[in-house]
Amino acid sequence: MTAIVLLGPPGAGKGTVAEFLAEHGYTHISTGELLREQIRLKTALGIEAKKLIDQGSFVRDEVVMGMIRELLDRSEKGSKFLFDGVPRNLAQAKQFEELIRSVDGELTHVVLLECPDEIIIERLSGRRICKKCGTVYHVIYNPPAVPETCDLDGSKLQLRADDKAETVQKRLDIYAEKTAPLITYYQMKELILAVDASRSIKEVRAAVLEKVE
Ligand code: AP5
Repeated sequence: MTAIVLLGPPGAGKGTVAEFLAEHGYTHISTGELLREQIRLKTALGIEAKKLIDQGSFVRDEVVMGMIRELLDRSEKGSKFLFDGVPRNLAQAKQFEELIRSVDGELTHVVLLECPDEIIIERLSGRRICKKCGTVYHVIYNPPAVPETCDLDGSKLQLRADDKAETVQKRLDIYAEKTAPLITYYQMKELILAVDASRSIKEVRAAVLEKVE
């Protein structure tokens, strides 16, 4: 099993890149999406996670790493995983490595999506997600065929609760404090592949694919 981590601030385009790499044989694992699925299903975990996510805080490390452990335990030998949203702090990074080792896997690259805050704020304020299936759109850069309607299932689109301006700033502050130190951590391990994520969706996706293949 091999693993690639997509690292970058909220709204840098991790999910958008991952959706594309999934068409090239990678299995996309988004911890944010796994948690939102629990919220949609109204499980106990989802109820606990919703409060934290909506206010822009992290969910407990044990919860997130437990989900990753379960997933890796069920993984097949030749899988190529693309992790989006995890690890998010140093404690998670260390645990993540142990989990990968425990299944004889290898972390091959950490793709860093670099994007300035002003672009991120524009991307998150224009992001819309499907209420039912979670598909992601942008009102300008990746609009649905019919405004405010999901192309896949016709459901209404909505703003993510954590994409309100005040919550976005909090998420950016938490990223700078807790997640950005992972850049140096992975640079020391010579795993970082940096990509300028301020370009168009097409350009960023192509640049990442070229780097990882
Ligand atoms: P998560 O869902 O992982 O949120 P995030 O990391 O903040 O990232 P986003 O999903 O906001 O953005 P993205 O980089 O994927 O951008 P996207 O491709 O959508 O996590 C949510 C929450 O869950 C966390 O805050 C935390 O509470 C919890 N959580 C998750 N993992 C956790 C963990 N490990 N530990 C603890 N808690 C955890 O793009 C954004 C928008 O821009 C879209 O509209 C898109 O269409 C558009 N766009 C993308 N790329 C481009 C481009 N190149 N040009 C123009 N528009 C673009």
